[in-house]
Amino acid sequence: MDSSEKKVLMITAAVLGLFIFSILYARGKYNDLPECIPFDKTYTEPKVVKLDEKTYQVYSVAAMWQFAPSKIYIPAGAEVDFFLTSKDVVHGFNISEKNVNLMAVYGNINKTTVKFDKPGVYKITCHEYCGVGHQNMQAEVIVNDPAAKL
Ligand code: CUA
Repeated sequence: MDSSEKKVLMITAAVLGLFIFSILYARGKYNDLPECIPFDKTYTEPKVVKLDEKTYQVYSVAAMWQFAPSKIYIPAGAEVDFFLTSKDVVHGFNISEKNVNLMAVYGNINKTTVKFDKPGVYKITCHEYCGVGHQNMQAEVIVNDPAAKL
């Protein structure tokens, strides 16, 4: 084998190794991967369900030009399953601080799970142009410190 061939093989192996390493490294570091789950009418009713102190489900319905529920109150440390659908056109669902990027599609349910460790207000914005009210389409996740008395 020519020495330049060997060099190319070595570089290829190194780059491949780097790719595999970065995939393994990133695994579990971010949110659950979004998933598409079978459509069910029960998901089309906006609500927040508390399963226990630290586990919540949010059924979010996007429609021109708002999200319902528009304010979601949870305690810090809570893990939230978001189930997302749309009543009309395609909307976006972005929580930039949490690296959440979903599409709200009529007849579809998209799901992702997010943990909110830090108290604060997390903006949910529509990041898919959906008509004249698009730029005003947003909601909030309000994460309270359970130790603070309100
Ligand atoms: Cu909904 Cu843009």
